[in-house]
Amino acid sequence: MKAIVVTDQAAGTAGMTLTERPDPEAAGNDVLVEVHASGFTPGELTWPGTWTDRLGRDRTPSIPGHELAGVVSALGYGTRGLTVGQRVFGLTDWTRDGTLAEYVAVEARNLAPLPGDVDFTIGASLPISGLTAWQGLFVHGRFDVGQSVLVHGAAGGVGSMATQLAQQAGAHVIGTGRSADRAAALDLGAHDFVDLDNDALEDVGDVDLVFDVIGGEIGARSARLVRPGGTLVTIAGPPEARPAQGLALDFVVEADRAQLAEIVQRVRDGRLRTSVGTVTPLEAAVAAFNRTERTRGKTVIRVRP
Ligand SMILES: NC(=O)c1ccc[n+]([C@@H]2O[C@H](COP(=O)([O-])OP(=O)(O)OC[C@H]3O[C@@H](n4cnc5c(N)ncnc54)[C@H](OP(=O)(O)O)[C@@H]3O)[C@@H](O)[C@H]2O)c1
Repeated sequence: MKAIVVTDQAAGTAGMTLTERPDPEAAGNDVLVEVHASGFTPGELTWPGTWTDRLGRDRTPSIPGHELAGVVSALGYGTRGLTVGQRVFGLTDWTRDGTLAEYVAVEARNLAPLPGDVDFTIGASLPISGLTAWQGLFVHGRFDVGQSVLVHGAAGGVGSMATQLAQQAGAHVIGTGRSADRAAALDLGAHDFVDLDNDALEDVGDVDLVFDVIGGEIGARSARLVRPGGTLVTIAGPPEARPAQGLALDFVVEADRAQLAEIVQRVRDGRLRTSVGTVTPLEAAVAAFNRTERTRGKTVIRVRP
């Protein structure tokens, strides 16, 4: 099969090539998926799991990309819940070969059915941003109806999902970002917006939940806004400051079939919008991965047209 591989951590993206690799085989509880669309995260060449397996052994050449939408083409021993020919989407293991390839072997439980009326490109844009927003709000953030939620980076990948989900769940949402992000954040459902370059974050007052995607000084200042009993949830690494009388926690997104199903249902009925940016074929994936200028929306690699 054709796949994008990386072999040399020191070389980074310069060592990334489109090449031929053996088709993967479905292990126990896996499905083999014919990838139609794939998503990657720009920073993933810095993740240990890109280079080593769970026991720390070198696993190069490795295939990046962890989001996919495609069609199940084979089942591993004992696999249940999905069938050959079924459309699926989801998030693959960080320490196994990924989705910038024509086929990927992935644990069935990491995938959910992709309804026939949702395009593969849309499906591949959803797993990381959708699951991260869902888990940050409803799993780790213990969100409750009526709470106030400060969503940093509200026009970005995760923040735009968190803004929509929180607003629809009955939150008062304050989005943040650059001044150019104001209209997008309000359009997604934020009730207020803080331009982090020009407004005073502290003017927000107390909130029940902070969803931080930025970290650093913004994260530390946000901790002081959390009211007693509230929570700061961050995806930007261990929190540098904690609320005086609240919780602070960071997490890494996990695959979850039930949550994927909730997310895609909201996309189908129009409650949740995903922002797809550049869409390119696998042959252009290296260039897409290397792109340095900032673009709006998720880059999706269309592996099959
Ligand atoms: N732990 C996890 O499981 C997990 C999961 C998903 C993502 N992440 C990480 O979380 C971060 C956000 O992911 P994402 O996909 O949402 O990224 P994204 O699409 O780039 O969104 C981030 C948003 O925040 C804005 N922003 C960042 N720094 C800012 C600042 N200092 N002032 C004002 N606005 C600022 C960005 O604006 P500009 O583009 O103008 O800077 C952008 O709109 C990334 O570092 C990603 O790697 C972690």
